[in-house]
Amino acid sequence: MDKFIITGGAPLQGVIDISGSKNATLPIIVAAAILGQTQSIITNVPNLADVRTLQVVLRHLGSTTNFQNGILTIDPIDLSSYEAPYDLVRRMRASIYVLGPLLARIGRAKVSFPGGCAIGPRPIDLHLEGLEALGADVEIEGGYINAQSNRLRGTEIYLRGVFGPSVGATANVMMAATLAKGTTTIQAAACEPHIADLAYFLNRMGANIEGIGTTELKIHGVASLNGAHYSVVSDDIEASTFMVAAAMTRGDLFLRGAVEDHVHAAAKKLREIGVTLLWQDDGVRVTTNQPFGSTDIRTDAYPGFPTDMQAQIMGLLSITPGISVITETIHQDRFMHVAELNRMGANIRVDGNSAMIHGVERLSGAPVMASDLRAGVVLVLAGLAAEGETTVSRIYHIDRGYEYLEDKLSAVGAEIRRIEND
Ligand code: EPZ
Repeated sequence: MDKFIITGGAPLQGVIDISGSKNATLPIIVAAAILGQTQSIITNVPNLADVRTLQVVLRHLGSTTNFQNGILTIDPIDLSSYEAPYDLVRRMRASIYVLGPLLARIGRAKVSFPGGCAIGPRPIDLHLEGLEALGADVEIEGGYINAQSNRLRGTEIYLRGVFGPSVGATANVMMAATLAKGTTTIQAAACEPHIADLAYFLNRMGANIEGIGTTELKIHGVASLNGAHYSVVSDDIEASTFMVAAAMTRGDLFLRGAVEDHVHAAAKKLREIGVTLLWQDDGVRVTTNQPFGSTDIRTDAYPGFPTDMQAQIMGLLSITPGISVITETIHQDRFMHVAELNRMGANIRVDGNSAMIHGVERLSGAPVMASDLRAGVVLVLAGLAAEGETTVSRIYHIDRGYEYLEDKLSAVGAEIRRIEND
């Protein structure tokens, strides 16, 4: 397994190009592979382990994919299978995205039930309720979801669960509804930038979706969809992660391609802490000349503070003077990074779904272990800010969602290197 060795202390300075969004790319390529009748060409696709894993799932279903230099060509013509086996789904939960599109396109799907993961149990009841409301018969048997339908029928669906709206259920149901007979209204839809991007792509394929970017989506079903050319939106979480990297190292970064409208919640909190953000047409400059202070954060669905930035901002608050409180409301078990940050000298105490962070003067390098994508990347940020050497192991978690991370960071002055197969 690969690991990173990081020597901390260097302020990051320079320009970083923001990659295409992981969480937009995944459903977009599923839609292209399963819902489309003709070839799609998707650009600005990040070169990530998750994107490669999803291609394996899609090839298993019979579509052809080719990925080169950020361009993914997908040919759905040989789509022949309707089964996503356990061995593939267990490697990546987002494989569940094939469920709605398979039902809509070929009336049948057999998809391994995804298990829990390092950030909580992550049920899929809302996905199944939504598809049943569209007329699918759904049975769980032997660890698999078996779903069948004749042509799906448009209806009204309320998709909010106990932890708020669901990104995945909104994507799954929206994709299925594009080919349903009649109009589907999804109320309490997730409206994250990646959900909006999926909807724009579906419309480019010939779907008829209104209300994009809001919590009420109206999907007027059409008979068929074609492939499309599309460029994936830039990754709001990657952009926000590098904002935190600049802040933690007291650096000065320009993040080319960051979109202001997509990062309001994280930007507001960073400003409260004392980070300066200067927006320009093509990105944002992040500077750190002001004194930093504490803040309180509660994660929420978009446009609230994203759970996918909770770990990273905790890293920053761990070296910010004062006491800060972070409350995690989306995922039930997303504090795995706390123990690792404390190993590096942070002073963070977890009580239920809140973490109290007493800012310390500095972190010190240590061997630490990534337990999931965002809990992993915060250890890299902490290592960049810490005194001495940090070794982050199990970085395959980080490779799932950050494209060329060590190259991007090295180019702006970080001392980070990858040790392969150690
Ligand atoms: C997506 O996961 C993202 N993944 C996650 O990003 C992100 O943390 C999450 O949305 C919330 O923003 C992808 O886009 C591939 P949800 P998803 O359905 O769709 C509960 C990252 O680091 N829920 O919006 O699985 C669920 O347990 C990853 O990039 C139900 O109760 O998340 C959670 O508490 C990690 N029933 C909450 O809703 C359901 O049927 C939100 O989950 C579905 C979800």
